[in-house]
Amino acid sequence: MHPLGEIAIAAREHAHAPFSKFRVGAALADSSGRIHTGCNVENATYGLTICAVRVAVFKAISEGARKFQRIAIAADAEKLTPPCGACRQILWEFCGDIEIILVNPRGNSETMHLRDLFPRPFDAHSL
Ligand code: THU
Repeated sequence: MHPLGEIAIAAREHAHAPFSKFRVGAALADSSGRIHTGCNVENATYGLTICAVRVAVFKAISEGARKFQRIAIAADAEKLTPPCGACRQILWEFCGDIEIILVNPRGNSETMHLRDLFPRPFDAHSL
């Protein structure tokens, strides 16, 4: 298991997911090697829920990080859990074509790049 994957699995323990019970963790390594973690945080109105990836990215940005190496995303599902559409957009805008490591606590993992999941992005260059 990639060490960043282990950190994402640990971050998942902090998930606040009383409604879906689907816990997700993320670990984002910035260019200096610092790791910013995230977990999903649900809300009783459901729609205000924020995913693990966006928590990690926004935490990192709020602490001054601007360049990123890779991100690991952990959930416990038979099929590895890729980032949702909203998170793909946020990842693209803040991290570019970042390496993504999907993991689960069962020991499975798969590595890809964001361009594989998000091939034709809308971003600042589109304006
Ligand atoms: N979730 C994430 O945190 N990341 C994803 O990429 C997919 C979905 C969360 C949102 C919600 O709390 C729960 O998983 C079920 O959708």
